[in-house]
Amino acid sequence: MSAAPRAPVGLERTLPREAYLSPDAFARERERIFCREWLCVGRADELAAPGDYVVKDVAGESILLVRTREGELRAHYNVCRHRGSQLVPDCGAGHFASGIRCPYHSWTYTLEGELRTAPFLDEASGLARRELSLHPVGVDVWGGFVFVQLTPDEAAARGHTLAAQLGAVPERLRRYPLGELRVARRITYEIGANWKVILENYNECYHCGPVHPELCRLVPAFKEGGGGELDWERGIPHRDGAWTFTASGTTTRAPFEGLDADEQVRHKGELIYPNVMLSLSAEHVAAFYVLPQGPDRTTIVNEFLFHPSEMAKPDFDPSDAVEFWDLVNRQDWAICESVQRGMTSRVFRSGYYAPMESWNLDIRRYIAERLGGEA
Ligand SMILES: [Fe+2]
Repeated sequence: MSAAPRAPVGLERTLPREAYLSPDAFARERERIFCREWLCVGRADELAAPGDYVVKDVAGESILLVRTREGELRAHYNVCRHRGSQLVPDCGAGHFASGIRCPYHSWTYTLEGELRTAPFLDEASGLARRELSLHPVGVDVWGGFVFVQLTPDEAAARGHTLAAQLGAVPERLRRYPLGELRVARRITYEIGANWKVILENYNECYHCGPVHPELCRLVPAFKEGGGGELDWERGIPHRDGAWTFTASGTTTRAPFEGLDADEQVRHKGELIYPNVMLSLSAEHVAAFYVLPQGPDRTTIVNEFLFHPSEMAKPDFDPSDAVEFWDLVNRQDWAICESVQRGMTSRVFRSGYYAPMESWNLDIRRYIAERLGGEA
């Protein structure tokens, strides 16, 4: 047996092919990453009024999000404690006029998840109501984004709060009025690629020159030096005269109030591991929720957020931003699917990161920290 060849000088080896292709690796990621981290599932204003609910598929689990009478968000596994029936049988949204009633035998729970009534059963007949609350899911909100966490007891034991996971992101984005923004458009993409291929692609601009000619005309800095010198802290400048992500580089919408001089004309981006990509222009935000479905399948929900003061205008039309993003997105997903297909070849063992892709080493480290040597 010979040792694996060393990476050529100046290059770093990526994760091995199994990390992108194997169902076993995906199952480990599901247990150790997606069932342990805070995952963004959408925006808080999807549940505007007390009693509103939405059902989301999160890492293969059906999760019921509700807004309580007190106006708080709660999340439960969508599973009746009686016989396991789903409380709400389909993904989607709705409103509970009173409590959560299981359609099977009408066991009824409060919006907080406590068992309230079970027909023809009571404490006297031995029903231990307190032991039959819905299984809880952690839920928290930052900037209007709803995050859930599938193993809340375990997360609490290790102090793994949403704030801990977000780290310095809220501080870096403090001038953007994220909590005030509303969704004007949503596009759902089904992509034939591993979720890590998509994150790795988001994390480097070495590919921008070859893959995104229109984007590079808007942001020439993306193709300079393979995108290795980009100052994401300060934001990326557009070409002269352009200040936002539309085909023309301009729009009639006003920039968000409170941005600094750079943020009014530059573009910022954040990757919040493991499932949110945020791209911030001066007057809109493109949010991407990465929802892995299998080793070679990923759903991405892309929401376009604008300020309500602009959305209220009679001539509001987000198409200039949405169409430009959709063009760039499709270029990205197509190349990610090409990577996924190429990696299935018998000759592919692992790839390399070039120096200007060094952000990608962060993904390798992120995976290694959570899966150890089993990545
Ligand atoms: Fe790209």
